[in-house]
Amino acid sequence: MNVYDSDRIAAVLHAHGIQSVDGPGEADIIVVNTCSVRDKAEQKAFSLLGRLAALKQTRPETVLVVAGCVAQQEGRRILDRMPYVDLVIGPHAIPRLPELIRSVTHSGDRIVDTAQAEAYQELSSADAMPASDAVSRFVTIMKGCDNFCSYCVVPYVRGREASRHPERIQAEIESLVAEGVREVTLLGQNVNSYGHKEGMISFAGLLRRIAAIQGLARIRFTTSHPKDLSAELIAVFGDLDVVCPHIHLPIQSGSDSLLKRMNRGYTRAEYLEKIRHLRRVAPDIAITTDIIVGFPGEIENDHDDTIDLLKTVRYDGIFAFRYSDRPPAPAVHFDAKIPESVGKRRLQEILQLQEGITREKNKALIGEVRPVLVEGLSRRIGPRAEFDDATPRWTGRTPCNRIVHIHSDPESPAIGTGAMIPVRIREAHAHSLIGTPATQIDGGHSHAA
Ligand code: 5AD
Ligand code: SF4
Repeated sequence: MNVYDSDRIAAVLHAHGIQSVDGPGEADIIVVNTCSVRDKAEQKAFSLLGRLAALKQTRPETVLVVAGCVAQQEGRRILDRMPYVDLVIGPHAIPRLPELIRSVTHSGDRIVDTAQAEAYQELSSADAMPASDAVSRFVTIMKGCDNFCSYCVVPYVRGREASRHPERIQAEIESLVAEGVREVTLLGQNVNSYGHKEGMISFAGLLRRIAAIQGLARIRFTTSHPKDLSAELIAVFGDLDVVCPHIHLPIQSGSDSLLKRMNRGYTRAEYLEKIRHLRRVAPDIAITTDIIVGFPGEIENDHDDTIDLLKTVRYDGIFAFRYSDRPPAPAVHFDAKIPESVGKRRLQEILQLQEGITREKNKALIGEVRPVLVEGLSRRIGPRAEFDDATPRWTGRTPCNRIVHIHSDPESPAIGTGAMIPVRIREAHAHSLIGTPATQIDGGHSHAA
């Protein structure tokens, strides 16, 4: 979500003749886009701003902007706390950013714009996303959230749920494809309820529409709320080849009593039934999840339920976080907060268990061939004895979203950014796979995942 907002910020500035530079030291305008979903992300934003304060002393004419959810939530308090910040804007003010920067530079005033909007705020067509050489791009299909999970700040900072019109989404994707994009990831806090409020087409209907776009090789989406995962959407995994066989389906906890206090709207049994249904329709589907560890009142039994759930589902990957208070989310007032040491120990147990499962699942792919969409040259790979270090190494993803580093013949004309190539998996690690091109190669035509 934030990456997409950062792209939108870049787009509006770019449309007003503002170019990007290599580092903050060269910039006339610095925009720090922030996330407030967990305490850690917010602390990171504040520490970056602290570092930028020094820069602002040497270049006082630089306009320093704080954007995103921390800005939305803290508003004027940011100006009070950080005298070097010039402008604070919430996510809804992105289309107004150039005008706000102009006011700051002309008047020297410090401004806060955190006005919320009911509807999705489209950028004007002049502010189209700048072209990039990326193969894969994010596309927001809705904003906000109406679910009010008891730990979550999102409904307060991002406002009510509102879906974009399917025509706008389709047009954006068509123009991305015309630029060379081959994969899109549709974004929303709860894509499964897309269009519901507005009485527009369902999310499954939207996927069918996007799947018909010529030249688009892969569609991904995130995030799915388990309570709104419909049979119609599950069926899409069986029907549409272009929809990648991967679903991110946050469970948050394996304990029914915690799920209830989290206000998640499903039970463990209902969740497991949806997993069975998904695997019946798409046996190889990758399933990933989010877990909150140490929610207020989490007893050892609840933790055991989560451990047991991880063993039952055998996820392809998880994101696990220690609970943090996010006012004004109601869980801030829940009793029986979990001591840090207990939370850390439980998080460690969960991560360790999952690491073993992820490794086993990755190892099972050794010898298999998967179509990989090449995203670019691979940068972060250490020297490996079995391969010649001089060969170019490409990187991409399998349909199930696993990262694959590809060792290839340096002369091979068929591999390049945007190519979809069959890759035989040779090695498996905890977070990535290593492979070599298999026989038949598709040099960049539309190719179902
Ligand atoms: N504490 C810890 N994790 C949280 N998340 C959301 N709010 C909190 C919180 N207060 C996690 C959830 C969600 C993910 C995006 O962030 O797991 O799915
Ligand atoms: Fe937060 Fe729950 Fe909405 Fe997700 S569904 S954004 S966790 S309130």
